[in-house]
Amino acid sequence: MEFITVEGLKKEYTIYEKKSFFRRDKRKVEALKGIDLTVKKGEFLGYVGPNGAGKSTTIKILTGIMTPSDGMVKVGEYVPYKDRKKYVKNIGVVFGQKTQMWWDLPVIDTYELLKGIYKVDEKKYKRQLEYLIDRLFLQDILKQPVRQLSLGQRMRAELGACMIHDPEILFLDEPTIGLDVVSKYKVVDFLQEINKQGKTIFLTTHDMKDIEKLCNEMLVLNHGDIVYKGKVEELKTVGELPIRVVAQVKRNGYDSLLNEIISKYSGEYNAEKSQLVLNLKNKKEISETAKTLFNNFDIDDFKVQEPSIEEVIKFIYTS
Ligand SMILES: Nc1ncnc2c1ncn2[C@@H]1O[C@H](COP(=O)(O)OP(=O)(O)O)[C@@H](O)[C@H]1O
Ligand SMILES: [Mg+2]
Repeated sequence: MEFITVEGLKKEYTIYEKKSFFRRDKRKVEALKGIDLTVKKGEFLGYVGPNGAGKSTTIKILTGIMTPSDGMVKVGEYVPYKDRKKYVKNIGVVFGQKTQMWWDLPVIDTYELLKGIYKVDEKKYKRQLEYLIDRLFLQDILKQPVRQLSLGQRMRAELGACMIHDPEILFLDEPTIGLDVVSKYKVVDFLQEINKQGKTIFLTTHDMKDIEKLCNEMLVLNHGDIVYKGKVEELKTVGELPIRVVAQVKRNGYDSLLNEIISKYSGEYNAEKSQLVLNLKNKKEISETAKTLFNNFDIDDFKVQEPSIEEVIKFIYTS
């Protein structure tokens, strides 16, 4: 069952540029060019793309803050921008770049207000609050005004805020941006836990490490178009980036065999370092080359280097 369905989603912004006192030019920006996507219940989706790709625009539409120019959007039984009032009770949203909490109020006061807004019953609220304090390490910051919090503390408080009403799905727009390693670890750990408990999570981030750690599915967006969708693991096999084999190989007279291997796997041999580098097309070739090399040569070291997700994504963006 699909939880989110998006078809042919378009968003166009009109920008007015002042050219002179008398002239204002109108220019259109196509932020989303007709994207399709689906997300299943319980999925942890990574939504990746360079600056300006249209990620935040997508999240704004999915959370009902913004109306699309064209296309169909459905989350659960709701059309977000139409059923906004009922819809927001079922979702949690965090925009990493700006706070949704009351700047001057202590964290706990924001939580109490949200409890009222979402009409969470007292018993459920108490239980949820206890859980969030424990898992997001909120005890020491509950009484502090939001404006006094460090970025890491604020982000944990924001995550708590979006979970007060225990929504089914979370939309997180760059929740780890600018966080130090420890703060990030706490956030990532928490997200992993609530996803295991069944929450559906739609996560936008720049950080491929977060995606690799957390997400099972991913979408790559570039200039308003989805350029990859599928499993995080499988992304590595698109784009035809080679898998590298780097081996220490002592020459032993089988020069012709070595040359054959080099030409077959577009490799190179550095005689000075006795280092052989091969560029393989797929995983199957790893065992092939390993067998040939170990059977015929003296091998001191054999390393396999798959392309990193960063490399693959850079390749997708530029091709
Ligand atoms: N309110 C707006 N008015 C005009 N243009 C906008 C507005 N918001 C975003 N854009 C433009 O739409 C494109 C996509 O932006 P955005 O969705 O914020 O991308 P991302 O979150 O991936 O960085 C960019 O070219 C951006 O400049
Ligand atoms: Mg953004």
